[in-house]
Amino acid sequence: MSIQPATLHARRILATLLGLTLAACGGSSDDGAAERTARLEAGRQIFRHDTFGDEALWSDTLRMHEVIAAAVDPATALAVGLKVDLDALPAELQTALAAGQVDLTSPATTVALIRLGAVVGVEGSVESIDGAERLTRVGITCALCHSTVDDAFAPGIGHRLDGWPNRDLDPGAIIALSPALDGASRAIYASWGKGRFDPRFNVDGLNGPVLIPPAYGLSGVHRVTYTGDGDEVAYWNRYVAVVEMGGQGRFSEPRLNLDRQNGSEDRVSDKLDALQAYQLSLAPPSPPAGSFDPVAAARGQRFFEGKAGCAGCHTGERFTDANVRLHPPSDSVAEPETPSYARRSATGAYRTTPLRGAWQHPPYFHNGAAATLEDVVRRYDARNGLALDQGEVADLVQYLKSL
Ligand code: HEC
Ligand code: HEC
Repeated sequence: MSIQPATLHARRILATLLGLTLAACGGSSDDGAAERTARLEAGRQIFRHDTFGDEALWSDTLRMHEVIAAAVDPATALAVGLKVDLDALPAELQTALAAGQVDLTSPATTVALIRLGAVVGVEGSVESIDGAERLTRVGITCALCHSTVDDAFAPGIGHRLDGWPNRDLDPGAIIALSPALDGASRAIYASWGKGRFDPRFNVDGLNGPVLIPPAYGLSGVHRVTYTGDGDEVAYWNRYVAVVEMGGQGRFSEPRLNLDRQNGSEDRVSDKLDALQAYQLSLAPPSPPAGSFDPVAAARGQRFFEGKAGCAGCHTGERFTDANVRLHPPSDSVAEPETPSYARRSATGAYRTTPLRGAWQHPPYFHNGAAATLEDVVRRYDARNGLALDQGEVADLVQYLKSL
C-alpha cells in the first residue's frame, strides 16, 4: 500500500537541484519569475473560468440553461449556495444592488449576472434573440465547488476565495433540477445535501456523497483525494474534468476499470500543468486573530504529539503521512459506513487528511461524520480509548483551531 519513499526522495533532491540551478544563473531568474507568474495566472483563469467544453453535459444533456432561465432567480441561486463575484460587477450595478433596486426575484437577473461572469463557477453564453437576452449554453468550472466568497457585500456576494471549499453549495439539488433525469437518479441527487458531492456515483452507481474538500494546502502532498488515488493533483484534475464535469477529453484508470472519452477533441490535457501549478500555490488560510487560545493550544500540542497519538499519522509540516503510507478503512474513525467510500476508490484505503486550515471547513472526515473539532476529538477518544479528560479535549481543540 505504500508508495516508494525513495522515488519521492529523489524527486525532492531533483527539485532542490533545479531550484539551485535556477538561482545560480542570475540573469535568467527574472525571466523564470515572469514565466512562473504567467503560468499561475493561466492556471487561475482555468480554475475559475474553463469549462473544458463541459457544456456538452450541462446544456446539451442536462439542459440546465433552460432551468436557469426559467426558474433560477438570484435569491434561489444564493439559497442553493451559488456565490456572486463582487469584483465582476460594474460599479453602477453594485450601487443599484446596495440601494435594493435590483430585482432578485427574476431569473433574468441571474442570466445578466452569468453574462457578466459574476456567478462563481458558472460560465454561460448569452445571445440577444428577438430583443431578449437568452442564455443559450451553460457549463461549470472547478471554482463552482472549490471557491467561495468572503461575503464582503452581503451573504454570498463578495471577493473570491479560491481553494476554499463551498460548503454552502448543494450540487445535488442543482443537478436534480434537470428535466433530463429519471425519478430514481433525481431522488439520489436531491438527497446529498449542502457541501456534498459523490464523484463516483456516475461511475459505480453507488450512493455515498463526500464533503467537498479544500483545494489549498496541497503543495508537497503526493497523495490526492481522501483515498490517495493519485500522486499528483493533476491526476484527479483530469478525472474530475472528464468524468464529473463532462469536459472534452479522456480519462482512463485500470484500477477502476474506467476508460471515459467525451467527444473527439482533447480540451483538458494541455491545461493540466498550469492548473496544477495554480492549485499548489494556494496556501491554507491562517486562523483569524483571536480565534483560539494560544496557551491552551500549546498544551493541546503536547497531547497531540504525546498521549493522544495524533502525530503518529498527522506527521510533519502538513500533518499527514500521505507520502509514506495510506490507511485501511478501519483506521478511519468515520468508518464503518455503507457503502465504504474507500472501497469504491482506486486504492481501497484512506489518506491521513492534512490539517492546516481545518478551522475553516467544518464538518470533518470524508463523510462529515463529525460536526465540529470537538466531535472529532471525542470520536478519537472513544475509538482509541484515550481517556482524555474535559480539559485535555478542550486543549486539543484549541490546538486544532490554531493550525
Ligand atoms: C461538483 C463539485 C466539484 C467540482 C466541479 C470539482 N470538484 Fe474537486 N472535488 C470535489 C469532491 C467532492 C472531492 C472529494 C473527492 C475525494 O477526495 O475522493 C474533490 C476533490 C478534489 C481534489 C483533492 C483534494 C485533496 O485533498 O487531495 C482536488 C485537488 C480537486 N478536487 C480539484 C478540482 C479541480 C481542479 C476541479 C476542476 C477541474 C474540480 N476539483 C472540480 C468536488 C468538485
Ligand atoms: C491511525 C492514523 C491516525 C491517527 C492516530 C489520527 N488520525 Fe486523524 N485522520 C486519519 C485519517 C486516515 C483521516 C481521514 C479519515 C476520513 O476522512 O474518513 C483523519 C482525519 C482527521 C481529521 C479530519 C480533517 C478534515 O479536514 O476532515 C481531523 C481533524 C483529525 N484526523 C484529527 C486527529 C486528531 C486530533 C488525532 C488524535 C486524537 C488524530 N487525528 C489521530 C488518520 C489518523
